[in-house]
Amino acid sequence: MNVTLITGASGGIGEAFARRLAAEKHNLLLVARSEPKLRTICGELTQQFGIQAQYVAVDLTKPGADQLLFDETEKRNLTVDGLINNAGIGSGGDLLELDLASELAMMQLNMNALVALTYRFLPGMRARKHGTIINVASMACFQPIPYMAVYAASKMFVRSFTEAMMVENQPFQIRVMLLCPGATETGFFDAANLTGEKRSAYSGGDRTETPEQVVESAMRGLRAGKRITVSGFQNRVTAFLGHFIPNSFIMPILAGWLRPKAKDQGGVATRSI
Ligand SMILES: NC(=O)c1ccc[n+]([C@@H]2O[C@H](COP(=O)([O-])OP(=O)(O)OC[C@H]3O[C@@H](n4cnc5c(N)ncnc54)[C@H](OP(=O)(O)O)[C@@H]3O)[C@@H](O)[C@H]2O)c1
Repeated sequence: MNVTLITGASGGIGEAFARRLAAEKHNLLLVARSEPKLRTICGELTQQFGIQAQYVAVDLTKPGADQLLFDETEKRNLTVDGLINNAGIGSGGDLLELDLASELAMMQLNMNALVALTYRFLPGMRARKHGTIINVASMACFQPIPYMAVYAASKMFVRSFTEAMMVENQPFQIRVMLLCPGATETGFFDAANLTGEKRSAYSGGDRTETPEQVVESAMRGLRAGKRITVSGFQNRVTAFLGHFIPNSFIMPILAGWLRPKAKDQGGVATRSI
């Protein structure tokens, strides 16, 4: 049975992808850590849309998680012809105020897991000369961001890796697309401990999209054959202007917006990630 594998599907953008693809009659393999949420979503989607939705509850930062997932698909006789590498976490603040283990785990999830899953499922796609990969980056992939240094670097990695994959896999008729959401109403900011004033500094206040809007942009981008889809008009304008403005000019401005205040380690500017 053909399936689309979605990581980070227990909430936010990943869950919105699952609901959208289920409505379009795709069978799904959903991945995240929270088993009860995955079980509920799979039950709902199977019942509502008459598709097959299965899940694997696994922590993608753990060594061997990619192999475990691949083995599960073999055992269940699933052919992964769509891969949405969406699972990711964020963090913000002065590097030395952040927990080193958490930063390294974020790198493991945002970069290593994405590469490892691509590595595992590409051979089958190449052999069948058919497949689609969507890698979820962020507006943070377009320039270094002071006070979000590791997260932005991880998303720049995703962008660089994905653009290279597009070219490497063109001869095999595999579609590879980079998706760049800006601030989106999900559990992302809570998971990153960016709450209160910090949240509005990093999310750009009310300039947020819903996960459904992000997925709508992604599906439109995919259908239009886009290599990079930036979700949201303002984000597209920002990304476009970024081509003409040097990082040396942008970074001090971002630093001014996001630099933690001595009082509460918070910020109050508006900027969408
Ligand atoms: N929200 C935004 O403003 C925003 C902006 C730009 C880019 N993005 C990107 O969009 C992607 C999705 O984020 P989101 O906004 O939907 O955030 P979210 O609501 O926090 O969802 C994150 C998903 O990743 C899963 N996850 C987290 N750690 C995991 C781990 N160790 N192993 C397996 N799964 C894990 C979570 O499920 P469990 O907790 O159940 O594991 C959840 O399903 C991320 O790559 C993020 O960087 C988000």
